[in-house]
Amino acid sequence: MDAYERVMELAKRRGFIWGSLELYGGVAGLYDYGPLGCTLKHNIENMWRRVYCTEEGFYEIETSTIGLEEVFSASGHLSCFTDPMTTCSACGESFRADHLLNGVVERPDALSSDELGRLLVHHAIRCPACGCALSDVEEFNLMFETHIGPGRGRIGYLRPETAQGIFTNFDRLYRFFREKLPFGVVQIGRSFRNEISPRQGVIRLREFSQAELELFVLPDQKTHPNFERFAELSLPLYSQQAQERGEVETMTLGEAVERGVIASELLAYHIGLCWTFLTRIGLDASRIRFRQHLPDEMAHYAADCWDAEVLLERFGWVEVVGIADRTNYDLSAHERESGKQLRVFVEYETPRRRRVVEVVPDMSQLGPMLRERAGAAAEVLSSLTPEQVKEAEKEGMLRIEVEGEMLELPPSVVSIREREEEVRGEYVTPHVIEPSYGIDRIVYALLEHSLYEEEVEGEKRTVLRLSPQLAPIPMAVLPLMDKPPLVEVARSITKRLRSVGMRCEYDEGGFIGRRYRRFDEVGTPFCITVDYESLEDGTVTIRERDSMRQIRVPHRKLEHVMHNLVLGIWQFDEVVEELGEGSA
Ligand code: ATP
Ligand code: GLY
Repeated sequence: MDAYERVMELAKRRGFIWGSLELYGGVAGLYDYGPLGCTLKHNIENMWRRVYCTEEGFYEIETSTIGLEEVFSASGHLSCFTDPMTTCSACGESFRADHLLNGVVERPDALSSDELGRLLVHHAIRCPACGCALSDVEEFNLMFETHIGPGRGRIGYLRPETAQGIFTNFDRLYRFFREKLPFGVVQIGRSFRNEISPRQGVIRLREFSQAELELFVLPDQKTHPNFERFAELSLPLYSQQAQERGEVETMTLGEAVERGVIASELLAYHIGLCWTFLTRIGLDASRIRFRQHLPDEMAHYAADCWDAEVLLERFGWVEVVGIADRTNYDLSAHERESGKQLRVFVEYETPRRRRVVEVVPDMSQLGPMLRERAGAAAEVLSSLTPEQVKEAEKEGMLRIEVEGEMLELPPSVVSIREREEEVRGEYVTPHVIEPSYGIDRIVYALLEHSLYEEEVEGEKRTVLRLSPQLAPIPMAVLPLMDKPPLVEVARSITKRLRSVGMRCEYDEGGFIGRRYRRFDEVGTPFCITVDYESLEDGTVTIRERDSMRQIRVPHRKLEHVMHNLVLGIWQFDEVVEELGEGSA
């Protein structure tokens, strides 16, 4: 069994993750979270909220998962969000054309459909399922299309990213943030991509959860007020240049910005923040790196992008987060499509003076000449440029269209006037920095990085090393034996812990050692055991999962001790030092 099989075996057996719709044979790319998986995922999302909303101060919104055709026409997803597809002429199965050429040619992901088609023929690649001939390569759009309302209704699409719901709300959000930049808005929710042939299990899904931040900044903002926090943080960076050389460079973020490896402090800050989150939830730091996209692999909206990649045994380095500089691409695109201005007014430090040359209609001539049409004609005339007026003067005639009729007027009906005006500022389209997290890949990676086996007294012990803040069952109360006085005390302790808001499991069946093992493999960091000593002196033991060490704690102190342990305020070692060891 490789790591993926070990994780998925545990995930299915213990209620973390399993294939969706298995009752009907299942569907590739769709997975469900069982009771423990669902809680683990929520805990990860809540930790993400803590980092991005509580600590960084961004606000979360929730927008519809169905978007209109216009939205995705503007965003470029209708025309650009495609993957190259080839289909077997005999069995009808479809494949990612570039994936079939992995290991056959260099960087097949950077090739056009025509080039991929030619190479499939040249290398005599046949259908991996049945060995028959493959079709030409076509671009397949990954969005799920739907219809809104009865009949054909309006065309809609399930969103392929949560980001568009933030961009389409930009004007309201700008007002919410009192018309000041920068501001950041996050969204956690489902995204949908009709992946052509998802063969990587939980890594490539057709429905998945993203956690995204859209940070709106002024176009020239390159710095971050708290960059110092990460300036000395040393990270493995795989820049475009490093990829050419084939070696990852480890350097501080301060040095990376100074040497131009990372384009700005702002981007580097968000790489540092991403690292903080990924390591805080417990991913193995030695299996994380940041890789910059090569110019030909960038998404259609991005000017620069760094992926956080994690190392997985079966899949190699896998992207779990993309941190992109989306420039003003999306807001400009939605402004064009919707016809509504999506800009912010930026005041100059000191007002500037500007020379204005304008065309001024002479109403004393236009009035008698055109009567009731004089006003409309004046409007058209004042929209002329000085160059157009000079041209008309040369010709001796001004031709304009007023209310659908061509009029010929003497050039003297307008004059060119120059004046100076004070300008307070200008309208600019904000730029966007976007960290985009794939939560499901992170859940899987965390399971793989946390799962280990060891031998204890000749027996195999399986452990899921989840942090107390993320473990779906952070504590369990176990009577040493299934006997009345022990059971009653254990039950009442469980009730007390639950009543102060702690998730706590109660388990009375079987040998204590076997029960400890059951909780070890679902990542429960603390087991509280009620034994005969408990009945005599009012203490219970707390057993820590990884070290298997135990301490005795008076059970009137349990709420306090468990609260501090589960929130990570105290480490188990500190409690041992304070109270001394003891076992059940
Ligand atoms: P990939 O290259 O692996 O297809 P991507 O570049 O298309 O990923 P993005 O568009 O940058 O991914 O999406 C942001 C994040 O969403 C990714 O870092 C990843 O964690 C997650 N993600 C994207 N596609 C999927 C998918 N099909 N299944 C699960 N997670 C996904
Ligand atoms: N929002 C980035 C992506 O999903 O591609």
